[in-house]
Amino acid sequence: VQDGSLIARFGRARRDRSLAVLEGFHPLKHALRFGATVRELVTSDRAELERLAAALAPDLAGRIAELAREVDPALFDQLVPLPPTTPVLALAERPAVDVDVALADERAAPVVLLEDPRDLGNLGACVRVAAAADVAAVLASGGHDPWHPDALRGAAGLHFALPVAAVAAPEALALGDRPLIALDPTGAPLVPAELDPRAVLAFGTERHGLSSQVLARADAIVSIPMRPGVSSLNLATSVAAVLFAWRLVPAPAPPLS
Ligand SMILES: C[S@@+](CC[C@H](N)C(=O)[O-])C[C@H]1O[C@@H](n2cnc3c(N)ncnc32)[C@H](O)[C@@H]1O
Repeated sequence: VQDGSLIARFGRARRDRSLAVLEGFHPLKHALRFGATVRELVTSDRAELERLAAALAPDLAGRIAELAREVDPALFDQLVPLPPTTPVLALAERPAVDVDVALADERAAPVVLLEDPRDLGNLGACVRVAAAADVAAVLASGGHDPWHPDALRGAAGLHFALPVAAVAAPEALALGDRPLIALDPTGAPLVPAELDPRAVLAFGTERHGLSSQVLARADAIVSIPMRPGVSSLNLATSVAAVLFAWRLVPAPAPPLS
């Protein structure tokens, strides 16, 4: 089955930094829930898509039914390299992200800085947990586009819930009033209650960890204590551990009156 223009649009979108390719139901659900403008939504099985929407996102069911266009399953399978198990693909506009504005977010919310993450699924998992923890932004250096379709899959589309952007040289970022905290297994043990809620939390690349430049610029280097013999946690696991250690610190008791 051929529809050259649809195949070409999905192919071009993978290289277009103004668009996001959403593969599967959960990325679509979160994208719509967090305000994405969806330009194209195709399904190989409208009845199954409507069943999923009714079960998992009743708030969006009408919208999804309106946007969806059913295409032949053989055509659907040609639109992306690895078709998702849930029968839906979409193209959405990426929100513009201004890194300086994201860093200037005044809330008591940290920024996650990923130095050269190599695994797109891992990068996506970091975005997912950062969105769940309601941080101010996720910034990523290195060669990968943090909005790559595989990262969007790993994040279940939660890129639309917070600013996510590529940055060039993490050690040269203008951080304003935010301290830079480097997460590294050699650091002093993390004390969650002492973590500055406006910190930029820097995590290193999967194989080699943080660069000497980021470590040299850091205001503090902290570690997640581990059992002896274990060398490190997976990148996304360490982001999750730190963010939820921070979130689960009990709020200070109100002063006695
Ligand atoms: C897979 S680890 C990198 C392993 C690398 N060989 C090293 O020793 O740093 C990826 C990133 O996760 C974070 N990480 C993993 N385990 C950690 C720990 N126990 N304490 C602090 N950060 C950790 C660090 O930011 C690290 O750069």
